[in-house]
Amino acid sequence: MTRTILLTGASGVVGKALLPRLLRSGDRVVALVHRTPVTHPGVTSIRGDVAAPRLGLSERDHAALARQVDVVVHAAAVTDFNRSDGSLEATNIAGTSNMVALAEAAGALLYHVSTAFVGVGSTVGRGEQAAGYAASKAQGEDVVRRATVPHVILRPSVVIGDSETGEMAAFQGLHQVVQGLFAGLVPIIPFDAAWPIDFVPVDVVADCIATVVEKRVTEGELWLAAGDRALRLDDAMDVAVEWAHRCGVEVDTPRFVTPDLWDRLIAPVFLDELPDFVARSVTRMLEFFTTYLQDGQTKPSSLRELEALGAMPLPDQTESLAASLHHWADVKGHHLCEATRSAA
Ligand SMILES: NC(=O)c1ccc[n+]([C@@H]2O[C@H](COP(=O)([O-])OP(=O)(O)OC[C@H]3O[C@@H](n4cnc5c(N)ncnc54)[C@H](OP(=O)(O)O)[C@@H]3O)[C@@H](O)[C@H]2O)c1
Repeated sequence: MTRTILLTGASGVVGKALLPRLLRSGDRVVALVHRTPVTHPGVTSIRGDVAAPRLGLSERDHAALARQVDVVVHAAAVTDFNRSDGSLEATNIAGTSNMVALAEAAGALLYHVSTAFVGVGSTVGRGEQAAGYAASKAQGEDVVRRATVPHVILRPSVVIGDSETGEMAAFQGLHQVVQGLFAGLVPIIPFDAAWPIDFVPVDVVADCIATVVEKRVTEGELWLAAGDRALRLDDAMDVAVEWAHRCGVEVDTPRFVTPDLWDRLIAPVFLDELPDFVARSVTRMLEFFTTYLQDGQTKPSSLRELEALGAMPLPDQTESLAASLHHWADVKGHHLCEATRSAA
């Protein structure tokens, strides 16, 4: 029987890849649209705000929506770490609560998109901004765990572009780091070179979520993370440095130093000598790394389990990263230099 899936966040990085993938199962998809319009053949959209009571709908419209919906896929969130205006809490906690209320009114299965970085806290004065985002996502998960309808929590790792084309709805923190590298702003990385940097291509994330929805999984907490297949930080950096060289940008491979050495000896001198805006960029990149490296821990991963359920296998991480960088470089006008093109 055809089901009706209500998808939130359809215009976002995850949602944009997920929407067409959900449609492949033959289910009807209704997109809850906030600010950015969603136009896709066969998709109905309804304007709403997850942060508002009843999603900003009248009592009548909310009840009518609940009558239609069999499945809720909740991918909307505020993902901007820098918000301090209450919107992280309003959207990621209260908003999740409002989506749970809709799922309960509908008697619908609920799939909640969280993050694999749900447990991060700030360390040694870095990563504080990300900690606020992570806390809001952790509390969002608590709300889902209290739901009276069957529910599944899905935790993607850092999302990169499509594994083949590198495309995605918006560039992410990882791209900013690469931008910094291309600009010569990443001479030193204050982390262990062997630490894993966990990321997953957006097509894999979308396929995993859609598979779980298609197979009607009704419980569990699934990690959409590379886990033991994550690249080492230095290997990922080598891929980025190679891309810079292919684009004719001369950059040196960053030097890895311990966080302690950085904090005590290098940062005070190095940051002080940089112009303000450059120092801010460097600090922002460190925030990104601190959040996502999490003291070298390997993330749990449910990808093999999901592959057994029919989801696509995780492609080679180096190739996926290269595809993302290729796409980013193209969009930013860093085209392959003549020598690289003729060698290819
Ligand atoms: N991107 C990643 O690397 C990553 C990694 C791990 C987990 N995740 C999780 O995956 C989910 C999707 O993230 P994303 O990267 O796709 O986010 P995104 O690109 O920032 O998009 C956020 C989406 O949420 C919608 N939204 C925001 N506020 C809303 C509101 N008040 N009411 C209704 N919709 C609202 C946005 O619509 P408008 O633009 O119209 O406001 C947009 O469609 C989130 O739960 C996020 O925590 C993402």
